[in-house]
Amino acid sequence: MSDRVHAIILAAGQGTRMKSALPKVLHPVGGMPMLGHVLEAVDAAGIGQAHLVLGHGAEQVRAWLDTRPVEPPHSVIQQQQLGTAHAVSQAMPEVPDTALVVVLYGDVPLIAAATLQALIDAAADGFALLTVTLDEPRGYGRILRDPQGRVTGIVEEKDASPEQRAIREVNTGLIAAPARRLRRWLSHVGNDNANREYYLTDVVGLAARDGVAIRAIHAASPEEVEGVNDPLQLARAERVCQRRHVERLQREGLYLADPARFDLRGRLSIGRDVRIDVGCVIEGTVSLGDNVQVGPYCVLRNVNVAAGTRIEAYSMLDDAEVGTGCVVGPYARLRPGSVLGRDVHIGNFVELKKTTVGDGSKANHLAYLGDAVIGARVNVGAGVITCNYDGARKFTTTIGDDAFIGTDSQLVAPVTIGRGAYIAAGSTIAKDAPEDQLTINRARDQRSLAAWKRPRK
Ligand code: UD1
Ligand code: CA
Repeated sequence: MSDRVHAIILAAGQGTRMKSALPKVLHPVGGMPMLGHVLEAVDAAGIGQAHLVLGHGAEQVRAWLDTRPVEPPHSVIQQQQLGTAHAVSQAMPEVPDTALVVVLYGDVPLIAAATLQALIDAAADGFALLTVTLDEPRGYGRILRDPQGRVTGIVEEKDASPEQRAIREVNTGLIAAPARRLRRWLSHVGNDNANREYYLTDVVGLAARDGVAIRAIHAASPEEVEGVNDPLQLARAERVCQRRHVERLQREGLYLADPARFDLRGRLSIGRDVRIDVGCVIEGTVSLGDNVQVGPYCVLRNVNVAAGTRIEAYSMLDDAEVGTGCVVGPYARLRPGSVLGRDVHIGNFVELKKTTVGDGSKANHLAYLGDAVIGARVNVGAGVITCNYDGARKFTTTIGDDAFIGTDSQLVAPVTIGRGAYIAAGSTIAKDAPEDQLTINRARDQRSLAAWKRPRK
């Protein structure tokens, strides 16, 4: 069944109303281009073949397709946007007569796989279209029915009479039909209408004339089939997408301080009793273990956080691994390659990059630790900096277990601090510091001048 179904996704339009250099279908919803959502729905519905009709921004769209981990779908270029029927025709040469065709729009991102499935099933004996009833049908093609309630055609708003415009059942644009017949109907579509375009919707009238049974499937909600034409509609689609995420995650047992102030732009997996405060953004692939707490206004991108860890307010974690029982933040920054063991404390204004921190170690205030390997139970004082970069190359700082790095020290890499070493505050350490010794490097002649007078105005 699935190999018999071919999806044709229309994505050639300019999207003028987006007022953007980015092709419309690449605008993200929930962190993924709209086209990605459509492709995922096609995939989830078990549709084996997809054909993309591209036009404006085709190069950018193809470049994005190449970044996905899966084989890009077949795509064709529609040189001139002569209408939706013309667009579908561009892909038809690749579709065998025996196929069942489903037409989707690249700018209708929230379509559910189950709806596609229902549309496919309904097309088995002829022709199926997806309709929806709107309180405000402006801009959409209206569904025409005969007195017996059978669908007879679709009239575009610009071509509709005042009576037809009063119809509230509208065309979502999604249709399904056997390829052989669709090919024939497409060849009969003309452009004698207000827009001088080849309308796919004319196929419905042609099917009705052929006496083919037309089944109208009703979309579960208007949200699912709402097209995105401008930034307002994009933001609305974003909210719908976020509400779906939130409801699913809450059912999985996520405790959100406020579901309206939470954004997921990727995938989040959670353990039990995970709590997330307001204003957090989760991007990429994130997992939060049992009892993890995330404070307000944190950004977590591609991170794994083990059980019992607390991420405090305003922290940014990017490509990091955080062990169990840690405390990170407030105002901490974990940059790519940060790996924390268990019971690690990373406090305010501490930045880590490509740095491993062993169990029970602490860097509680104002530090930069880059390209470092830090052992267990190390204390990194306030203001400690690893000088890991000479302007051209990066070097490693290695700190042994139980070392103590006094405040405001600079560790000039490559350098190794031995186990149990004690670095005196304010030291610039450019040579290896031996185990279990105090190493100090600072100007020695501290003086106090008893006769000194404070300057006065
Ligand atoms: C279309 C339908 C209308 C329906 C509405 C739902 C037609 C004639 N009308 O109108 O009945 O209510 O969608 O949103 O089909 N595209 C191409 N190539 C083209 C023209 C369009 O790829 O030559 C793509 C666009 O990028 C877009 C989709 O097809 O993704 C729909 O085109 P659009 O011009 O937005 O159609 P509407 O006027 O909204
Ligand atoms: Ca549209």
